Amino acid sequence: MDTQDTITGRVVAVTGASGGIGAATAVELGARGAHLVLGARRADRLEAVADRVRAAGGTAVTVPMDVRDRADHTALVDRARAEFGRLDVLVANAGVGRVRPLDELPVEEWDEMIDVNLRGVLYGLAAALPVFRAQQAGHLVVVASTSGLRVVPGQVVYAATKNAVRTLCEGLRQEAGPALRVTEVSPGFVATDFVEGIGDERLRADYRAQRDEIALDPAAIARAVVFALEQPAGVDVNQVVVRPTAQG
Ligand SMILES: NC(=O)c1ccc[n+]([C@@H]2O[C@H](COP(=O)([O-])OP(=O)(O)OC[C@H]3O[C@@H](n4cnc5c(N)ncnc54)[C@H](OP(=O)(O)O)[C@@H]3O)[C@@H](O)[C@H]2O)c1
Repeated sequence: MDTQDTITGRVVAVTGASGGIGAATAVELGARGAHLVLGARRADRLEAVADRVRAAGGTAVTVPMDVRDRADHTALVDRARAEFGRLDVLVANAGVGRVRPLDELPVEEWDEMIDVNLRGVLYGLAAALPVFRAQQAGHLVVVASTSGLRVVPGQVVYAATKNAVRTLCEGLRQEAGPALRVTEVSPGFVATDFVEGIGDERLRADYRAQRDEIALDPAAIARAVVFALEQPAGVDVNQVVVRPTAQG
């Protein structure tokens, strides 16, 4: 069987799998018979998601990890190979969004977003790419954002990190050759805990209100990931943008 023809039996590692889009993606793939390797920092939440994956018919193991730590990515990929013999897909989904005007100079928040959203994806690539090369097959899926496509005041550095990973995806695609697939999924507003990380109380309340009014169910993004994965081996879905119809 060409393992890239179907999701059943595919080995998929997902970062940021303890909630939101990552958890929804894991459950959606689990329902299609994938073997999941779930990474994030909160071990208890990861276990709860693993239980949901198993209940949906999939197989799941958990790896508590911080995407800012390169060794943790190695552990994630090693666990996939030890448990399931290979790694077919890495979904680099973990991310944080801090919203503040540049004038406030929130340099620590800038550093955090660069470390998680950009360096965290690069470390994932560093762990997965040699395995993909040795297998002569592999698929990197990166969760970027529409924030990088339509830059909104307050989200400038967040958007910069997402445009950086967008560039990374296109560059990897150019270098990858026929054996690898690279997909950037860019969600618009999705109903997750993402806005809870906004430090400014007033902005957080505004974003919460907007989320509760228009945001997508995370399953909408999970289905976009599924669409990219379920294509035949020679078909590379490069970019998927999914917004609520109500989003400007
Ligand atoms: N929600 C939206 O409107 C939206 C829109 C566009 C793009 N996105 C992107 O979608 C992705 C998922 O976000 P979400 O909306 O699902 O938000 P979320 O509910 O806050 O989930 C974020 C996930 O990332 C993990 N994470 C954060 N920092 C981490 C770290 N240092 N190491 C490991 N895991 C880390 C969290 O797990 P732990 O805290 O347990 O580590 C959690 O599982 C992000 O890349 C985000 O930029 C979201």
